[in-house]
Amino acid sequence: MLSRDQLLQAAETYGTPLYVYDARVLDDRIQRAVQAFQGARIFFAMKANSNLHLLRRMKEQGLGFEVVSYGELRKALHAGVPGDRILVNGPAKTPEEYALGQEVGATFILDRLDECHFLNPGAKVIVRVNPELHVSTHSHLATGEAHSKFGVPLGHATEALQQARNAGLNVRGLHLHIGSAIQNPEDFREAFEKVAHLADEVGHLEVLDVGGGWGLNADLEGIAKIAFEAAQSFGAELWVEPGRFLVSESGVLLTRVVGTKETARKFILLDAGMTEILRPMLYGAQHPLQPLWESKQTDHYDLAGPACESGDLLARNVELPVPTRGDVLVLEQAGAYGAVMSSTYLTRPRPAEVMWDGEFRVIRQRENLERLWELELAAES
Ligand SMILES: Cc1ncc(COP(=O)(O)O)c(C=O)c1O
Repeated sequence: MLSRDQLLQAAETYGTPLYVYDARVLDDRIQRAVQAFQGARIFFAMKANSNLHLLRRMKEQGLGFEVVSYGELRKALHAGVPGDRILVNGPAKTPEEYALGQEVGATFILDRLDECHFLNPGAKVIVRVNPELHVSTHSHLATGEAHSKFGVPLGHATEALQQARNAGLNVRGLHLHIGSAIQNPEDFREAFEKVAHLADEVGHLEVLDVGGGWGLNADLEGIAKIAFEAAQSFGAELWVEPGRFLVSESGVLLTRVVGTKETARKFILLDAGMTEILRPMLYGAQHPLQPLWESKQTDHYDLAGPACESGDLLARNVELPVPTRGDVLVLEQAGAYGAVMSSTYLTRPRPAEVMWDGEFRVIRQRENLERLWELELAAES
């Protein structure tokens, strides 16, 4: 990881709020996944971080990409990813996604049978099943529960495969993804076993895609073992779609202390908040914190962003050394679902992103204000 001095240098040189990535950590996580899943195909879930510079690095290391919008599809192609290394996913795909995905030879993750009508005969598909499982994560992150909007119920899987074949589609196999940041590895076992039970009914498949959802400390070898076993029951090749595991720990968000304040609670006010990193507000994510300042005294604080929103808190009741204005705080594990979810709400330009790869390099410029209202000006002419 980057040293305290390197992080301070980045904050000084590029300003804050700032996303900083360490290419060595990214490469390490990619290689850990490649080692653990030897023989499987790995598709990076691009929703976790779609910065072109990261995508290109992953592409060079042989990864494919799972995309969930026309924009992600175009961007993956722009990064030079061949169509046969792309999975097109999403519960409500657009005509443009169907058209371009088929043109480049991507494989579609069929989320409902109705989709058969929107694809041409011969289109490559895998059918997403919903294992109807309660899993150990925040409710917004669980995708394989009975009431979730994803996939076809497990009990309809055989029929779905048959109908897709009847529609002339090139049905390659099955897909499941139980959710993100799964805490209990037993959830994977339960889900994979449930799906593997279908093998007696459906017979041989070319592919079993078990999605992503690995926690940052996940036992990859353990997950790989049960995933390969499930794939073997269909005689299928194993595909996986990690997002967070590959990029989270490679990125941090640097933010400066604007001041402190006391109401019924004590606050550290920061120059980053919900517009720069939505995860704490969206699903109560707790990012490890590293203060880049020292003080003999500590206190307990809520960390508040600059938005005029009561919910704009990045952490609650954390013990930190007493800061002074201008001190730099590091929010760790911010490389996944961080920069991609930043927004221009409150007419705030999105932060710059830099990557350390022997030296710092800007991989996304800080958004400039004029660009924020450029389209409104264009509408006047
Ligand atoms: C279908 C699918 N695959 C993979 C992922 C990646 O999940 P994670 O980032 O938790 O690995 C997601 C995340 O939402 C997903 O919806």
